[in-house]
Amino acid sequence: MSEQATPPVKLRESVLAVPAYRQGAAPTKPGFKLSSNENPFDTLPEVVAAIAARAEDSNRYAAAAMTELRGLLAAEWSVSPDHVHFGAGSVTILFQLVQAAAGPGDEYLHAWPSFEAYPSLGLASGATAIGVPLTERSEHDLDAMADAITDRTRAILLCTPNNPTGPIIRRGDFDRFMARVPADVLVILDEAYAEFVTDPEAVRGADVIGAHKNLVVLRTFSKAYGLAGLRIGYGIGEPSIIAAAASVGIPLSVTGIAESAAIASLAPAARATNDDRIAALAARRDELATALRDLGLQIPAAQGNFVWIPESGAGVPSAQALAADFSEAGTLVRPFPGHGVRISIGEPESLPEVLRIIRAHLATIAR
Ligand SMILES: Cc1ncc(COP(=O)(O)O)c(C=O)c1O
Repeated sequence: MSEQATPPVKLRESVLAVPAYRQGAAPTKPGFKLSSNENPFDTLPEVVAAIAARAEDSNRYAAAAMTELRGLLAAEWSVSPDHVHFGAGSVTILFQLVQAAAGPGDEYLHAWPSFEAYPSLGLASGATAIGVPLTERSEHDLDAMADAITDRTRAILLCTPNNPTGPIIRRGDFDRFMARVPADVLVILDEAYAEFVTDPEAVRGADVIGAHKNLVVLRTFSKAYGLAGLRIGYGIGEPSIIAAAASVGIPLSVTGIAESAAIASLAPAARATNDDRIAALAARRDELATALRDLGLQIPAAQGNFVWIPESGAGVPSAQALAADFSEAGTLVRPFPGHGVRISIGEPESLPEVLRIIRAHLATIAR
């Protein structure tokens, strides 16, 4: 069915106006998939074993309380278990929180460009998304975001490090921002890529969660833990906010298999292996960012598992043209037309290939 097809039934105009979420495409030729910020490492054997063992219980619903995993995360975050909320991916918790906080006539703020799902989070509830442009350094413009708060603002999304551009939010800037946010406005700190952060100045959700009752921190097992296909993420926040999110969520949407895989990923040996993998990906990211800067490209601070090439200044003239060259070579990256290109950090062999394609692209446009 084409995206433009007219539905045979009456649907809400506000829903029809919003483009559907588009997943990064799969490669059609031998090459690398660097378009979805996935983890290139294979699933850990002990996690695969936990999945297989739990698969035998597929005739049963998982217990919604997820007591063991909840307990592990509550201990890690030094909160009581009722501060922890699970979702089938952290994206589902984003939808729940915006739906719980903002209805028709209300607004929620987010930086732009940022995570592509943000503009449509208010769709179901009828809330309006306000995208606040990033600074020239591709960072959140927290002053402009604070200036954009009105008496209609019900939620503010902060993404650190920012997908797709890469920079973190600094702790000092976060503290100054929070001092300007009314205490009854929900702030969501989306830390989907937190494990890859190496900048000591970055705000850390775990350090600030105790200081703000209006703050919910979101984390995911999709990226650093490599469980994207199983769909499990979590939020940490005040129990009354968590309960409101849960009440608009779809019951039992987090599977027992995802729960078991997450528990297995948190076991000490699995953690140690994952920490090594995360360090390897962060080092690969830094290597790519440095190599691209050596080519004369203006690459913003890269703190996630991806690198951003802006479509402006000392970036590339056309994000789409660069992405097309990648695609032609069999490797997929994510263009954001008018803004830039995001390249996920993949297998070690992808690095020379990425550089080869970009060098060739730069040589072509220099002609
Ligand atoms: C900033 C950000 N937040 C949240 C998510 C959602 O991740 P998941 O639903 O897989 O936990 C993503 C996924 O790409 C993301 O980039």
